[in-house]
Amino acid sequence: MRVARVFSWLAVAGTAIAHAGMRSVESHIGKRTDSNAQLGTFLHNRISPNYSELYIAEANGSNERLLLGSNTVYDFRATWSADGQYVTFTSERRGNGQADVYRVAINGSTVTSTPELIAVSEGVDDSGEISPDGKMLAFATSRFNHTSNIMLTVLETGSLKNLTLVDGIAGAANPTLPNGYFKPTWSPDSEWVVFTSDRNTPWRGHSAGAGWEHTQELSIYAARPTGEDLRLVSSRANYTHGSPHFSPNGKRIVFYEMLTEDTYNGRLQPDLLYGSVLNTSIVSVDFPSGKNRIVHATGTGVKISPRFVTNDVIGYVMKETTSDNGIYYVSVSGKNYTQYQNIPMNTMTPALRSPTWSPDGKYIIYEKQGPTGGSTSTSRTQYTKLWDFNKNWDYRYTDVFPMGKRSGCPMMAMSQQMEGPAKSNLMRLSMNGTDQVTLFETEKAMINPSIAEGYNARAYQGNWGPGDTNLTFGFGAYFVARESSPGFIFSVNEYGKDVTLLAGNNITNYGFPSYNHDGTKVVFRTWPGTASNGTTIGSIGLAVVDVPTRKVTQLTTEWDNLPAFSPDGKRILFTRRVNWSNFHDNYDIFTMNLDGTNLTKVTESIASDAHAVWTQDGRILYSTGMYGFQQEAPLYDDSMQPYAVIMLMDQDGSNKTPMTNSLWEDAMPMFAPASVLSKTCPYKKNHSA
Ligand SMILES: *[C@@H]1O[C@H](CO)[C@@H](O)[C@H](O)[C@H]1NC(C)=O
Ligand SMILES: *[C@@H]1O[C@H](CO)[C@@H](O)[C@H](O)[C@H]1NC(C)=O
Ligand SMILES: *[C@@H]1O[C@H](CO)[C@@H](O)[C@H](O)[C@H]1NC(C)=O
Ligand SMILES: *[C@@H]1O[C@H](CO)[C@@H](O)[C@H](O)[C@H]1NC(C)=O
Ligand SMILES: *[C@@H]1O[C@H](CO)[C@@H](O)[C@H](O)[C@H]1NC(C)=O
Ligand SMILES: *[C@@H]1O[C@H](CO)[C@@H](O)[C@H](O)[C@H]1NC(C)=O
Ligand SMILES: *[C@@H]1O[C@H](CO)[C@@H](O)[C@H](O)[C@H]1NC(C)=O
Ligand SMILES: *[C@@H]1O[C@H](CO)[C@@H](O)[C@H](O)[C@H]1NC(C)=O
Ligand SMILES: *[C@@H]1O[C@H](CO)[C@@H](O)[C@H](O)[C@H]1NC(C)=O
Ligand SMILES: *[C@@H]1O[C@H](CO)[C@@H](O)[C@H](O)[C@H]1NC(C)=O
Ligand SMILES: *[C@@H]1O[C@H](CO)[C@@H](O)[C@H](O)[C@H]1NC(C)=O
Ligand SMILES: *[C@@H]1O[C@H](CO)[C@@H](O)[C@H](O)[C@H]1NC(C)=O
Repeated sequence: MRVARVFSWLAVAGTAIAHAGMRSVESHIGKRTDSNAQLGTFLHNRISPNYSELYIAEANGSNERLLLGSNTVYDFRATWSADGQYVTFTSERRGNGQADVYRVAINGSTVTSTPELIAVSEGVDDSGEISPDGKMLAFATSRFNHTSNIMLTVLETGSLKNLTLVDGIAGAANPTLPNGYFKPTWSPDSEWVVFTSDRNTPWRGHSAGAGWEHTQELSIYAARPTGEDLRLVSSRANYTHGSPHFSPNGKRIVFYEMLTEDTYNGRLQPDLLYGSVLNTSIVSVDFPSGKNRIVHATGTGVKISPRFVTNDVIGYVMKETTSDNGIYYVSVSGKNYTQYQNIPMNTMTPALRSPTWSPDGKYIIYEKQGPTGGSTSTSRTQYTKLWDFNKNWDYRYTDVFPMGKRSGCPMMAMSQQMEGPAKSNLMRLSMNGTDQVTLFETEKAMINPSIAEGYNARAYQGNWGPGDTNLTFGFGAYFVARESSPGFIFSVNEYGKDVTLLAGNNITNYGFPSYNHDGTKVVFRTWPGTASNGTTIGSIGLAVVDVPTRKVTQLTTEWDNLPAFSPDGKRILFTRRVNWSNFHDNYDIFTMNLDGTNLTKVTESIASDAHAVWTQDGRILYSTGMYGFQQEAPLYDDSMQPYAVIMLMDQDGSNKTPMTNSLWEDAMPMFAPASVLSKTCPYKKNHSA
């Protein structure tokens, strides 16, 4: 598994996805808001929990109830103020993907006010924590340039102060490297803000730099609320130190520690992907010396979100295989307190995350979150309303690989992963999600029994041909499974008939095809396979099949993927791995002529830029990691590239414009322009040609 993953790459959000019926909770934040979406609909995929609800309970988990009762929407990451009077939390109650910070007043365990917005912008506002003197809010925000920074709000006046976005902090770090600031927390005397940062660390792929997804190396810093006196509190080479929290007496800070490498596996679905192999710890050190290190808990399991409950008790989250998953306690002195007994869960879902305790240690608040739609689970319904980050477009959720008809009528194709990892069928549907028709059912494909079921069975990137009569798609084993199983290029007509093999030798892995303008050529990605006699067949790169003759010509032999013919058939857009050590500048987007000439690199960031698609008007949408993580990586569940932001640019790489600004992995975009939506598609529903 580990070796195979060294080569694991598909593309941003290539990972997965799935969904199902919405709960009423989501449907009421799914309403059109202030949109002035004259340009049309913008469909894209998102990997995030499909619901998130705050609960309050006794410290041992008993007597659990919804913190906000009927006012519960999509809420997470609560913190209890040191005076016990407020709970701050992040919520997407303004709309799916629009994270802001709120607070409610609380008396004992009873909420006594409605949620009040205390940090709001068009970017991510998250991780709010009120200072112990009650005067200020510290929070993380991506409002200025999409990168996460820490700001303060004076609660009485609402006036804002930059904490990390100042010359001495963000401005003093290398601007081409990760430069994110996360999880602020206050010293009990309100004199220091302590936070984490991956500043001046490489854009490092997992598997010691070989992998495609990034790891995150965090250190803990402290600064005055003025942004002065920045200093490193705790750091360890090749380890990440996250989510610091002070002991009530201000003497120590506790944090989680894991290998930088494990910040990749640690944000995946533990059961599915690594069992119990990760070894992580809960550690505390003296503040301010950073010395006198104590390891409070160690061993297998992903331990995150520690907090001092009392000077002698630390609580934390364990993300683990089913029965060990939950909230745990450890006593510094080794006592067994009757009121602090672990709260184990018997399943991975719902996940209990971000616990916070009342200052008297009696109560605990945490969120319960549903599946993310990542590699294993169900998420949102097609066409669910998402927040309009660009007010010209009506943002909507789609399943993976959406592709509109060429002729400009409101019909599209996508790969449906709603039923989870077992299959991903190729679908045709209206752009508003109605009239879904299965074009290719992976379970029924008998071309190779080993890829007809389970994780291997993927029908991906359905792309329309000229006249919209046929689609081409890849069927096979993708992601890590491409190492050992084949993939094929097929065509199918828009009624799901005439399934025709265009390219595939049952050894080499072919996938991610695109038709040219006249339907005579299909470009696709190749990956070598091993024949039964042990010979390696095929190469990495891109190839073209001549549709009339089925002759396959290898175009490139570099690490390339996701090719797409330009609307006029003259150029190919694709992603190329440009650096083999994967410490910086690993993937970029290119265009080239069919014969490989005039190769043009159209992205510059030294993070990953990938997964480009053409828009109908000849521009390019793609995913970029250049703004870095929006949160500490290990705090995510089942999300491989939570830093992915969708970017729009002109064909030559100019006018780059970010289209999303959420906490989550946003990818797989498609424009459905207003001119298209106003048309009617000429098709017969139950055609049986
Ligand atoms: C979230 O997904 C689960 C299935 O895993 C489903 O039962 C539930 O209805 C979904 N909830 C929402 C709000 O979409
Ligand atoms: C949890 O704590 C409450 C009081 O704090 C107590 O009444 C209850 O019995 C405890 N439950 C368990 C399962 O220990
Ligand atoms: C909190 O609730 C208690 C009783 O439940 C009440 O006596 C007290 O006045 C309340 N405190 C505040 C600040 O409202
Ligand atoms: C914070 O920094 C940003 C970026 O430099 C700047 O635009 C903004 O005005 C600053 N805000 C305050 C309150 O200083
Ligand atoms: C955001 O602003 C900070 C501070 O000026 C800078 O270091 C960082 O490079 C900027 N990030 C991007 C992606 O522009
Ligand atoms: C950290 O990891 C890098 C890359 O694997 C390695 O070169 C370096 O020696 C490591 N540093 C320490 C202190 O282990
Ligand atoms: C602590 O005490 C409880 C009973 O109150 C017991 O169930 C539990 O196993 C003890 N835990 C440890 C670590 O000894
Ligand atoms: C969805 O789109 C189809 C095709 O464009 C249209 O016929 C239908 O009325 C739409 N349905 C809704 C609920 O908007
Ligand atoms: C493809 O190879 C598999 C063995 O890996 C074999 O079972 C299957 O029949 C082959 N399919 C074709 C069409 O040759
Ligand atoms: C669509 O595919 C069928 C089956 O391969 C083929 O006969 C037909 O010519 C194709 N139509 C177009 C317009 O390419
Ligand atoms: C091994 O098998 C492949 C695929 O069937 C074939 O093309 C190749 O000629 C074979 N090589 C040898 C040495 O038999
Ligand atoms: C090469 O491609 C770029 C980008 O599409 C284009 O602007 C330029 O004219 C092309 N140059 C040649 C010599 O074709």
